[in-house]
Amino acid sequence: MRISLQEASKLLSRGEVVAVPTETVYGLAASLRNPAAIDKIFSLKGRPSNNPLIIHVSHKQQIEEFASFFPPGFNALAETFWPGPLSIVLTVDPEKVPSRARAGLPTAAFRIPNHRDAMDLMDMSGPLVMPSANLSGKPSATKPEHVETDFGRDFPVLDGGPCQRGLESTIVIYREERWEIIRLGSLSAEDFFDVLGYCPRVNIHGAVPLCPGQLYRHYAPQCTLILRMPPDGSKVIIGFDERKYPEAFRVISLGSLDSPENIAENLYDILRRLDSENIPIAHVDMDFPKTGLWATIFERLNKAANI
Ligand code: TXA
Ligand code: MG
Repeated sequence: MRISLQEASKLLSRGEVVAVPTETVYGLAASLRNPAAIDKIFSLKGRPSNNPLIIHVSHKQQIEEFASFFPPGFNALAETFWPGPLSIVLTVDPEKVPSRARAGLPTAAFRIPNHRDAMDLMDMSGPLVMPSANLSGKPSATKPEHVETDFGRDFPVLDGGPCQRGLESTIVIYREERWEIIRLGSLSAEDFFDVLGYCPRVNIHGAVPLCPGQLYRHYAPQCTLILRMPPDGSKVIIGFDERKYPEAFRVISLGSLDSPENIAENLYDILRRLDSENIPIAHVDMDFPKTGLWATIFERLNKAANI
């Protein structure tokens, strides 16, 4: 059900959960001030309670209510990338941030999204916690229809059209005098060079990942993805505009190799389409660069294939 800004704000004030557009992916929003509404997010998504949520605000000053230590480089990162697809993990005052939102951690991730509707809604309703608006484990939602596929046609969605970036925010944390990327996203490690003077280390693996979400299966359609070309024909191939796959039974293009931005924008829609068309198995052409935004595309395809 498509709703207006006013309706979204009213539902949030009543402790309901609504889907909200951002420039990365749609979020499932609840008021940060309402622990019962935060619980609803976890049960609606089927999300493990030890996977914390990102706190979204419309102004940087609002974060000062929750955090008092801002590591070196924080201001430069915030000024360069906010509003935008960067989430920054900070140590918070546990009295000020409900424990269930941060899954009991002493930290919380913060982001100012670059979307007019999300900003207007936060100006009306205050800080919002927003995980991606998909069932846990599924590809994120980048269109209102995706939210409705996962949560039903009656679910309230603030329709902001298709998300412009299409991949989630990049998450960073400050450790041992350096910033590190703990979830790859719409910003690549290279994007930080001019601001920090170095490319942050990408620290996404490890037995106890710094980003709890890394532990879980993610972004995965029902369709089995095989990340290599098939030895023979008659297969569905996910590939690129400029390549020919003469023996394929069907080719689904991710887009042009010239535009990883465009591929990012469409990736989850394509993964979701495999399921809406009941395609059981697809092979993916993984012969593409692995730097810049491609590194995130590579990581998402690996996770989608359950690797
Ligand atoms: O682009 C985005 O970030 C989207 C939109 C809606 O803003 N949101 C999003 O949220 O992707 P979600 O819940 O799907 O992913 C949040 C990730 C999870 O992997 C979680 O573990 C991590 O952020 N996270 C949240 N708080 C954290 C913290 N304090 N320390 C480390 N990781 C944290
Ligand atoms: Mg998610």
